[in-house]
Amino acid sequence: MSSELDDFVESLQEKIIEETRRSYGEKVIERWMNPRFMERIAGADGYSMIRGVCGDSMEFFLVFESERVSKAAFMTDGCGSTTACGSVAAEMAFGKGPEELLDITADAIESCLDGLPEAEKHCALLAATSLQEALHDYMLRQRKEAEA
Ligand code: FES
Repeated sequence: MSSELDDFVESLQEKIIEETRRSYGEKVIERWMNPRFMERIAGADGYSMIRGVCGDSMEFFLVFESERVSKAAFMTDGCGSTTACGSVAAEMAFGKGPEELLDITADAIESCLDGLPEAEKHCALLAATSLQEALHDYMLRQRKEAEA
């Protein structure tokens, strides 16, 4: 009896994973299961905390060395797509200067993940906005330092 139940649960799990893979694609699933750079960075040079239209939030952290991103990270309480988008946004930010960071838009993040289901496109927007706000925070701090 217990073995039949185990088989049922296993086959149900396989079905769910297969359906999720079909709707989200391999790249989303991979980052969702194994997000890169999902952490908080104490004393980051640029920081943001943004709440998306769905109510989920993302924090973004940027550290610069010689005007280039030497560390980037994110944290989110959002869905799997948001985790995948935050991961890609942080990966894309590495080594970039402020001008180049502006190119990391929701579309750029989404295309890096080979697309998102229509209902979850806002997750890419949340990641892009969080990154851009962290950049904005960095630029403001730079200006304040220059004026001091
Ligand atoms: Fe809330 Fe993805 S950010 S559903």
